[in-house]
Amino acid sequence: MNFDILRRLQVNRIGLRDITWPIFDLSRIQWSRMPKLKIGDSVAKLPIIQGGMGVGISLSGLASAVANEGGIGVIAANSIGMLDSDYYASHKDANAITLRKEIRKAKEKTSGIIGVNIMVAVNDFHELLRVAIEEKVDIVFLGAGLPIKGIPVDALRSAGVKVVPIVSSARAVQIIFKSWLQKYNDIPDAVVVEGPKAGGHLGFKEEQIDDPDFALENILPELVTVIKDYEAKSHKSIPVIAAGGVFTGADIYNLFKLGASGVQMGTRFVATHECDADIRFKEAYVSCREEDIVIIKSPVGMPGRAIRSKFLEELSSGKKIELKCAWKCLKSCDIKTARYCISLALDNARRGILEKGYAFAGSNAFRINNIISVKELMQELQKQYLYAKENGASRLRDEYEKALEKLSLVKEEYLMALKNGFNSLKDEYIRNIEKGLITFHEEVEAGMSKISLLKAEYLKAMDNANSLKDELMDMFEQYSLFNRPNTGEI
Ligand SMILES: Cc1cc2nc3c(=O)[nH]c(=O)nc-3n(C[C@H](O)[C@H](O)[C@H](O)COP(=O)(O)O)c2cc1C
Repeated sequence: MNFDILRRLQVNRIGLRDITWPIFDLSRIQWSRMPKLKIGDSVAKLPIIQGGMGVGISLSGLASAVANEGGIGVIAANSIGMLDSDYYASHKDANAITLRKEIRKAKEKTSGIIGVNIMVAVNDFHELLRVAIEEKVDIVFLGAGLPIKGIPVDALRSAGVKVVPIVSSARAVQIIFKSWLQKYNDIPDAVVVEGPKAGGHLGFKEEQIDDPDFALENILPELVTVIKDYEAKSHKSIPVIAAGGVFTGADIYNLFKLGASGVQMGTRFVATHECDADIRFKEAYVSCREEDIVIIKSPVGMPGRAIRSKFLEELSSGKKIELKCAWKCLKSCDIKTARYCISLALDNARRGILEKGYAFAGSNAFRINNIISVKELMQELQKQYLYAKENGASRLRDEYEKALEKLSLVKEEYLMALKNGFNSLKDEYIRNIEKGLITFHEEVEAGMSKISLLKAEYLKAMDNANSLKDELMDMFEQYSLFNRPNTGEI
């Protein structure tokens, strides 16, 4: 008797103990609404931030409406003084005065969370930041550049203003967080990661915009990993907020699965009654087609996404455009080489004069069919989110049940092969030895390798069932449901 074969057959039996698998009864779940979004001590009922939209697209009207619905409303600060007829005389001061007014107006209309969006690329960045601090807004969102130099962190902290940089890569996060630790011994409170489908200025090179490597779904998980590191070191929770192309509640659900804790949306909020832009700006969203949404080179020094307009056509045909400059509002803009004033073009669009400007818009703007209220939009997003969540859960449960079926079949086959293999190999082995046959060794090996293959298949099926089980367990634990009874043993 060859004891080696016996030993090998015994070894193959390892891992065959019976396991109890739980039943996941989804009807027991009372599907909770979207999770809250906590940024420092500000807690939003809904994890939805209305992105700051300049010039003058998101002011106190839109921001307070969003905050009243439980989201975070954001006033865009750049060139906000253009609302004031005195802008060409007092530019910078007009920006500070108008921003202050808008913050105060928003706060009168809501007790919800109000933020201010300030572009690092503007020359009055520090003045605008000072106003936001003095007015004690809840959060400042700092984009279009890295917010590193001269950030008044102490003043921000003592006014209780949270800081959220807007970035387009994990690398930018590393740079900002590392510099903040060195300079301020502090770190920002959350991060917005804006992918290339966003409206307005984009933090990508033109050739990266359609490159799948730079898609939000790819840059988000990488950034989440970097942030986890900082969370562990600082013992602080730093939510990652995903932006750019978020259109439905299902999009929100999918981004949460990739590690986001909130979303920032722009385009969808433009098409609301409460958006502060002229109705003609909103109608440009309703009537545009996919091919009307184009990438432009902006005097800010970044590409931007906008809806094609007569003004943009004239610009690309080389037509000379009247250049009126109030002051050098953008660090990168050079009046000698700039062909037009972007602040004026955007302000004209805000006022509905689209033949003298253009509307910034996200890549999904063509999907907008009508203008609704902020309340309706928020309700629609929540409904879609829940639907996607329930659907996702039942797909997961179905997959789990299929995995258990497969496991049970493979296990049966494997056990059968072991049993038959063991008996027949043993008997045949004895018979063949008696006959003096020596070729039998190969048959034994073939039999053994079939058993090994079945074992590998069984272990794989077990892994698969286990990981699906873990996912479902996590989900049930979130709802504090621990599942009994069990399906029995496999
Ligand atoms: C009309 C418009 C103006 C914008 N202006 C700004 C701005 O002034 N500062 C900024 O950081 N982002 C700006 N954005 C980007 C938004 O805040 C937001 O992150 C982006 O629109 C998200 O993508 P989505 O439009 O696909 O939802 C703007 C977007 C739009 C559509």
